Amino acid sequence: MSPEQIRAGGRSTARIDGPRKVAGTAPYAYEHPVPDPVHLVPLTSTIARGSIDRIDTTAAEDMPGVLAVLTPWNAPRLTGEAEGEYVVLQNPEVRYRGQIVAAVVAETSEIAREACDLLDLEYTPADHDVVFHADHPGAYTPETVNGGFDPDTQRGDVDAAFAHAETVIDRWYSTPEEHNNPLEPHTVVALWRESAPDGEPTLTLYTSTQHPHGVVEALAPVLGLDAAAMRVICPYIGGGFGSKGGPHAHDVLGALAARALPGRAVKFAVPRHDMFGYVGYRAPTASHIRLAADHEGRLTGLVHEAFTQSSRVTEFVEQAAVPLRNLYDVPNVRTSHRAITLDVPAPFWMRAPGEAPGMFAGEVALDELAAELGIDPIDLRIRNEPETDPETGLPWSSRRLVECLRQGAERFGWDPADRAPGTRLRGRTLVGTGVAVATYPHMVSPGSEAHIRHLGEGRFSVRIGATDLGTGAWTALTLIAADALHCRPEDVHLEIGDSALPHGTVAGGSSGTSSWGTAIVTAAEQFGKRFGDTPPPGAELSATAAENRELEHCTAQSFGAHFAEVQVDADTGEITVPRMFGLFSVGRVINPRTARSQFIGGMSFGISMALFEESIRDPRFGHVINHDLAEYHVPTHADIREVEADWLDDEDLHATPMGSRGIGEIGIVGSAAAVVNAVWHATGVRVRDLPVRLDDLL
Ligand code: MOS
Repeated sequence: MSPEQIRAGGRSTARIDGPRKVAGTAPYAYEHPVPDPVHLVPLTSTIARGSIDRIDTTAAEDMPGVLAVLTPWNAPRLTGEAEGEYVVLQNPEVRYRGQIVAAVVAETSEIAREACDLLDLEYTPADHDVVFHADHPGAYTPETVNGGFDPDTQRGDVDAAFAHAETVIDRWYSTPEEHNNPLEPHTVVALWRESAPDGEPTLTLYTSTQHPHGVVEALAPVLGLDAAAMRVICPYIGGGFGSKGGPHAHDVLGALAARALPGRAVKFAVPRHDMFGYVGYRAPTASHIRLAADHEGRLTGLVHEAFTQSSRVTEFVEQAAVPLRNLYDVPNVRTSHRAITLDVPAPFWMRAPGEAPGMFAGEVALDELAAELGIDPIDLRIRNEPETDPETGLPWSSRRLVECLRQGAERFGWDPADRAPGTRLRGRTLVGTGVAVATYPHMVSPGSEAHIRHLGEGRFSVRIGATDLGTGAWTALTLIAADALHCRPEDVHLEIGDSALPHGTVAGGSSGTSSWGTAIVTAAEQFGKRFGDTPPPGAELSATAAENRELEHCTAQSFGAHFAEVQVDADTGEITVPRMFGLFSVGRVINPRTARSQFIGGMSFGISMALFEESIRDPRFGHVINHDLAEYHVPTHADIREVEADWLDDEDLHATPMGSRGIGEIGIVGSAAAVVNAVWHATGVRVRDLPVRLDDLL
């Protein structure tokens, strides 16, 4: 390539998988053509705790077209490696309402569903507890929280800071249980072959996952298979939101059914109502936040005590108190996490776990402090900007949060002179604006590997076990490869979405592009060194992503600022968000077109979290009662109006060789707080428990 060639990365590029999706030729997990498929329908428990005494399967088994009825007594056995949510149909114990207790496999899904209705179960129920509240007597300190963080931290003398504080904010905030509902539910097609030809897998799973290699690594030991005997294929995903970051009970069930019916491909699409069951969700959180400050708004103390719900099935603790540990320059800080084990399904990743609920609480608390002190909320944040990471003392790789706040305010049209709440009445509509900060750690998962092969005439094959949630990895990785190989994007033939490809790490924690991109750059550099500028056709090599030692010497984190305007009908309390603007500091943006979509998608999730989403668990029976998209509210086009995002032009070579940092989740973080802070500015009503309801404002 000539040195003056423009880099492909940084140029707005349409999704290269777009035409395949529009033409309907991009197969999602359930759509992979398989010969002679059979269909699985699961049955789930109607009690929240206890055991199954017996299942009468006679009527179901007698139905023509039924091939297998799986129960805890006859399902194929898993190995001793099976734990937590992967223990499916292995014993009669019921640990939550909605647990898989049986399944029917039949020639058609209609037959399977009808046969499922004929199963007759008898249970011995036990007392259950599904009600989360922060002062639950069972609250305990977990060993670690999601992300591997310490549950508790402390620096400075917090008690002295509060004893001598000029101003104190002491408040509780809560976020409800929420469920991931990508348009494509979790689906799996499983094929077991007893005598697979040499080199062919025993078990093939077409499953909608954010991590094909992760599914193999988690499930091969559970199923008693060598990793090489299992293959997971997932070239396209219809959204995951975190819940597809690892396998769940449905993958195990699909594999068990396939093993019971070798040679037949078993198709299983998790029904929408079961998306509120065994496939993960965001646990409810309660946050007790205390802020101590002097009269100039300098924070002298900060306490974040986070409480959340875990399950008897698998421990999962949302790391809600982590982000405030290093966001502001506070000398005295204490944070803690307490979990409460309930008779509920296992929580899992959902849309910036930890950061999303924790920063809602923290950024509303900051707004309350600003109001209390009569300081503009943007100014308050700038006064507490840390020079270096206050938690570790390390320098930032690049932290341009103040620019995001200042430039964002100007572009949004922020008016610091107009901060009195509940005073802007236009006709019968109250108008307000709110701000909140966003931050998300820059994570790189080690161990991704890329294979490069010169196809001749300057065209290259690039193979890596990455996945594309729909957010643009197909395109971003193609652009990264083109720049690394000094060729045009159209000369890159990319293959992703298959565990038969070189090892790929998870599309989660906003780490995908950073991790896979590093592997591609590493492999391309080695390729260039070995084969020079004119590689022979067929030249090929594989390389694992070079370790980035820079990250030991700095804190790399993404930042941003959200600005929201809300309008509230003074008579009905109806809330609309006519416009929202986010400005981000994320290093270099690889593909502006898809990056913008990720930011505005995340901001839309923030509006959704602030105003709509809430799963309501019935304390009597233990299930989510609003378990469909009619009653679990998500925003429609009419709710999402002018949402715009932009970023500071930048390049962070400490973070990745591409100069980029993670962008997947930061749009979600703080966006709900910006909306809620705007609701306060409009109405004077401070809502601390999500979602905001119309009657909160009347
Ligand atoms: Mo993200 S919720 O870590 O997939």
